[in-house]
Amino acid sequence: MTIAITGAAGQLGHLAIEALIARGVPAAELVAVVRTPAKAADLAARGVQIREADYGDPAALTAAFEGVAKLLMISASEVGQRIAQHANIIDAAKAQGVGAIVYTSLLRADTSPMLLAAEHAATEKLLDASGIPHTLLRNGWYWENYVLALPAVLEHGALVGAAGSGLVAGAARLDYAEAAAVAVQGDEHMGKVYELGGDEHLTGADLAALIAAAADKPVVFQDLAEEDYAALLAQAGVPLAGAQVLADADAQAGRGALDTDSGDLRALTGRPSTPAANVIEAALHG
Ligand SMILES: NC(=O)c1ccc[n+]([C@@H]2O[C@H](COP(=O)([O-])OP(=O)(O)OC[C@H]3O[C@@H](n4cnc5c(N)ncnc54)[C@H](OP(=O)(O)O)[C@@H]3O)[C@@H](O)[C@H]2O)c1
Repeated sequence: MTIAITGAAGQLGHLAIEALIARGVPAAELVAVVRTPAKAADLAARGVQIREADYGDPAALTAAFEGVAKLLMISASEVGQRIAQHANIIDAAKAQGVGAIVYTSLLRADTSPMLLAAEHAATEKLLDASGIPHTLLRNGWYWENYVLALPAVLEHGALVGAAGSGLVAGAARLDYAEAAAVAVQGDEHMGKVYELGGDEHLTGADLAALIAAAADKPVVFQDLAEEDYAALLAQAGVPLAGAQVLADADAQAGRGALDTDSGDLRALTGRPSTPAANVIEAALHG
């Protein structure tokens, strides 16, 4: 049974492919759909089929899905373009008779007030309309999101955000990747909606304390108003639209948008989620 993975050259894609291989799926039955084949050379070396397609190229996508039974559709990364890109992927899958799609959505995408949720909610509707059996993996926050800012956090001794004392039930990218592998491998997950979050529920202050402990340096949490945080991100070089989306995500996290007690992630992976401390430790000390 051939399983295709979009976004396969990316970080989640790589981890999901590793997880599928670790779960016994032969590499030759995996199709990595990538925009930049050079970024999938390691996957090719393992025997994974590499097919090149940009999400803006319906013909290439259709060719890429030839003979594919199931698709792990990792959400695209260009915010603002994603509804059209996801529509192209779903249309191409339908044209090739792909039998099932597992889509990486966002926590409570259908009701979440986060700006990021709109494209995911629209994609979920496209999947419903496609008639293709599908599974929604509504991913919560990656702990790795906090690692990106580590150099600046350590330089200034402050983790800056806008989430106040809001709890985030994050997990490692690896946890979401393993859940995706499990969901696409078995048939019992079709038609299901999973709200995925980790076992830990942490505030910005908790994360600052974990960073301080791992780096052995004082780090405080500095809570800003949403617009001030957006301005700071823009000043740091994040394009304005992206800065607003990130600041909105943080502010909504402050109101609980990234917290969940569903237990769905642990149920899929069969193990506790990776502690944030491990992700921070790995980022700081390898
Ligand atoms: N829940 C969260 O906290 C969170 C955090 C980050 C991301 N996400 C979501 O999860 C997805 C996977 O995350 P990730 O960490 O694996 O991201 P990533 O490492 O940036 O990987 C994204 C992949 O998508 C590919 N891609 C982007 N635009 C494309 C296009 N037009 N056509 C074909 N391929 C395209 C990229 O290709 P290239 O290698 O050629 O650039 C890249 O390989 C993201 O796309 C985003 O939707 C969620």
